Amino acid sequence: MCGIVGYVGSKKAQEYLVTGLHRLEYRGYDSAGIVTIDDHKATLHRAKGKVEELDQLTAANPSSGTVGIGHTRWATHGEPSITNAHPQQSGDIYLVHNGIIENYRELKAELKDHKFASETDTEVLAALIDSFYDPGTKLVDAVAQALQLAVGTYGIAVVSTREPEHIVVARSGSPLIIGVGEGETYIASDASALVGYTDQAVYLNDGEIAVCSADGIDVVDLASRPLTKEVETIEVDMQAIQKQGYDHFLLKEISEQPQTLRSTLNGRVNVADKRIKLGGLNMTDDELKAVEHITIIGCGTAYYAGVLASYYLEQIVDGLTIDVAVASEFRYRSFHLPKNTVALVVSQSGETADTLACLREIKKRGVKTLGIINAVGSTIAREVDGGIYVHAGPEISVASTKAFTSQAAAMIMFGLVIAQTKGADVKDTLPYIEELAELPTEIENVIKNNQSEIAEIAKRYGSYNHALFFGRDTVYPVALEGALKLKEISYIQAEGYAAGELKHGPIALVDDSFFEVGLLLDNWLFDKTLSSLSEVNARGGHIFAITNSKKAIDAETVLHIDTKLKLLAPLVLNVAQQLFAYYIAVARGNDVDQPRNLAKSVTVE
Ligand code: M6R
Repeated sequence: MCGIVGYVGSKKAQEYLVTGLHRLEYRGYDSAGIVTIDDHKATLHRAKGKVEELDQLTAANPSSGTVGIGHTRWATHGEPSITNAHPQQSGDIYLVHNGIIENYRELKAELKDHKFASETDTEVLAALIDSFYDPGTKLVDAVAQALQLAVGTYGIAVVSTREPEHIVVARSGSPLIIGVGEGETYIASDASALVGYTDQAVYLNDGEIAVCSADGIDVVDLASRPLTKEVETIEVDMQAIQKQGYDHFLLKEISEQPQTLRSTLNGRVNVADKRIKLGGLNMTDDELKAVEHITIIGCGTAYYAGVLASYYLEQIVDGLTIDVAVASEFRYRSFHLPKNTVALVVSQSGETADTLACLREIKKRGVKTLGIINAVGSTIAREVDGGIYVHAGPEISVASTKAFTSQAAAMIMFGLVIAQTKGADVKDTLPYIEELAELPTEIENVIKNNQSEIAEIAKRYGSYNHALFFGRDTVYPVALEGALKLKEISYIQAEGYAAGELKHGPIALVDDSFFEVGLLLDNWLFDKTLSSLSEVNARGGHIFAITNSKKAIDAETVLHIDTKLKLLAPLVLNVAQQLFAYYIAVARGNDVDQPRNLAKSVTVE
């Protein structure tokens, strides 16, 4: 989704702005722009398409300005175009904006003196700020007055040719981080844009405005009362945001799951002690013992990780009831949560707007909230009562892979902590603890032993336009996730189904334009899933079966995964289908890391 960068200091701002925007490309965007100010004069560059277009513009017309702001735009109001790209200008001010100003039509109607050039809500906000920016008024005060009238979400950065010594930033619902350097200050909507420049940062909260200059920052609230902010250390290193020799971030992120999962489990899974230890829950033993219901909230892959975890949690914790909900639906439902509920709020980015809105709704009802979050310091991570950081490292590719595995593992660990606190028999919890400890190596094996076979298989299925994924029990959520992964990066229309549901509708689709991915676990439901396969075969299906069983399977293609895991084998099978989707997308020549129309973190509704 949109990205913001800013710089004020003694160096040429343009250099950081362009690098910063390249770092934010992974979030998804369709146009980009920067403005720098030199000697009270602005140099504005905007381009449709990739940041590379800006590289050319800035090379042809370099600016020596030491203050500037930049933006990558993911269109919400108005098509992707140079006119709609940010920065948007009004009078002396230039504005970049993430989020949506919901009352922009009403505001626009009032701003009769401004001639609007774009279709954006952002230009309306720029004009609104400008309307308060009389001679003698400070930019920060004009911004504060305008924001009191704006309804919606925003992360903004504003510069003025009249006050070229600083940048004014503000947030409400859209993240902004201020990087504190030596005699320079950076602004970014995402920590990855600050890596290598500074690791000291101030996270802006909703309702805060900061004036950023080379000497530091002054933060106030919307009523201009001064606030004291803590400077925190960002723990992202340069290696983690580079491809490190892989063709795509997606392949890197699939391949690094053994290590990232070890980071999730490290210090938490103790096989010798037969226990799980989780540090950040902020729950007493009495509170853990009292848990009777878990509600899991997320979007996309985070939601599917929650669905998968729900199967494990009900196996692990005796008597526990669970529901899992898609955040965009849950936030508007008249939901009631039973006594002794804990809500698990699952998000890789920690910034997803719908998930954040659910968190706030749940908190209003006085329910304990725990985050299952990857991005340290993100908004959701800061607003939950406690939680488990999954420590999977930056996930750059839009398609979420390593986060899914780590989120599922984190939620399984949480179930084990509840079970052990409630006094569960170790013989019931130990098999999960042992398999969690083995899981990274088992994932390593599938990547090492099956990758080239999967790449070959992908060649056979790359030309289809429709796919149906199915499985039962713990591989049903894996089928849902497999279909999502395939559709978002290959653009093959794909749906996931519970195998038992095929006869209730989807089997009507089976013909030569379709292929099917059947997930079969070697357990008590194996024969039942085999029946589903036979039914699809009988109708001329083209089945690609993925299984941990050694038994013969009647399918067009069978991938046997050799894993010693029983309970957690679904997470191993999932890695195989991640690779399958990756190789299909590559074969189809797609932009694997930045699939069309998608954004990495969805910070608007
Ligand atoms: O950052 P989050 O985990 O909250 O993001 C949720 C979804 O937007 C995300 O999982 C999305 O579905 C991915 N593109 C799936 O690969």
